Amino acid sequence: MRCEFRVTNKTLETHNSQLITVLKKTIKMNKTIAVIEGDGIGPEVNKQAIRVLDAVAEHFGHEFDYRYCLMGADAIDKTGTPLPDETIEICLNSDAILFGAIGHPKYDNDPSAKVRPEQGLLKLRKALQLFANIRPVNTYSSLFHLSPLKSKNLEGVDFIIFRELTGGIYFGNKETSPDGTRASDDCTYTRAEIERIAHLAFHFAEKPTRRKKLTLVDKANVLETSRLWRKVVQEIAPQYPSVTVEYMYVDNAAMQIIQNPKQFDIILTENMFGDIISDEASVISGSLGLLPSASLANGGNLALFEPIHGSYPQAAGKDIANPIGSILSAAMLLEFLSMEEEAKLVRDAVNWTLLNSFVTKDIDPVNFYFTSTIGELISDFVSGKIAGTVKTENIELRKSTII
Ligand code: IPM
Ligand code: MG
Repeated sequence: MRCEFRVTNKTLETHNSQLITVLKKTIKMNKTIAVIEGDGIGPEVNKQAIRVLDAVAEHFGHEFDYRYCLMGADAIDKTGTPLPDETIEICLNSDAILFGAIGHPKYDNDPSAKVRPEQGLLKLRKALQLFANIRPVNTYSSLFHLSPLKSKNLEGVDFIIFRELTGGIYFGNKETSPDGTRASDDCTYTRAEIERIAHLAFHFAEKPTRRKKLTLVDKANVLETSRLWRKVVQEIAPQYPSVTVEYMYVDNAAMQIIQNPKQFDIILTENMFGDIISDEASVISGSLGLLPSASLANGGNLALFEPIHGSYPQAAGKDIANPIGSILSAAMLLEFLSMEEEAKLVRDAVNWTLLNSFVTKDIDPVNFYFTSTIGELISDFVSGKIAGTVKTENIELRKSTII
């Protein structure tokens, strides 16, 4: 699936595209990428994404300069804080950010913990104004059997969730009464916060590659903030006459995503609803390990890319996690940096592994390959070392024999 980030004048875009392709063949790109490995399986999946980025750099003659920085439980252990100032500084001075995962079990069941890994991510979102989280959801026919949904409902599923990321209940005032018997989290949205993500979602919806339908998911029958979302979206809609707008309550949307996911094209929603429905939607693909995401900063000149899965601590260090979510996040990063051809090659490589059943344990618990083997295969494909056919015996040697 393809996800263009740049919102540019259409005529110019077409006009310039050929020129850009010609220039890109000769122009060497030099980009700085901030890398936050994070917790659990974060470092190992990130490593494979970087391996693929290195193969891209070599193949196309680019140079990527990686700047490693800390966040999450890893940062708490090393510095006492989940997001050191240095990390914000490095991110702000980079062209893009590649992030692994966050979270550690030692904080999960301790509601009184004063410092939590997740605070690092929330603070980073706010500090960099990463206001739009974009999560594409699509299916692979070779993996239909893994999805809890019926195959007939999976064919042609291709939608993108636009989740607002810096407002709503996540960032509202939080309070617990002194006697500890009452707690509250405020949910607030401003018109400006809704407008900026709504415009972005509408822009995507009207792209030639999309089906020109936008569904606003809210709870306007109950919540005042949802009523503001509807009002703002209704006002903006006439600026995008080719896009059909639909409104759906979040409880209904949660059901429809499972019952009839192909009806969706672009889903626009607020922070908390987006968090919930994007995890729900991820099971459609067959494995949470496959899905990438991008979080765009205000102004469009910085973005963070991460797989949607969590830190999966049980798998950490075992070389069994699926690196594809992270590798596809790297593909989104390339596209964001205007390297479309490079991004396509990475996606082709990923499709090639899935079609040939070179998959990790989450996809095939018996005949599986290791995280590092999948990363190696994908980077070899990118480097042109795998031409059409492949010596499967060599790869078979790297297949797990643990049943
Ligand atoms: C996500 C995660 C985060 C969120 C957590 C780790 C704070 O679930 O990116 O979806 O709730 O936004
Ligand atoms: Mg989530």
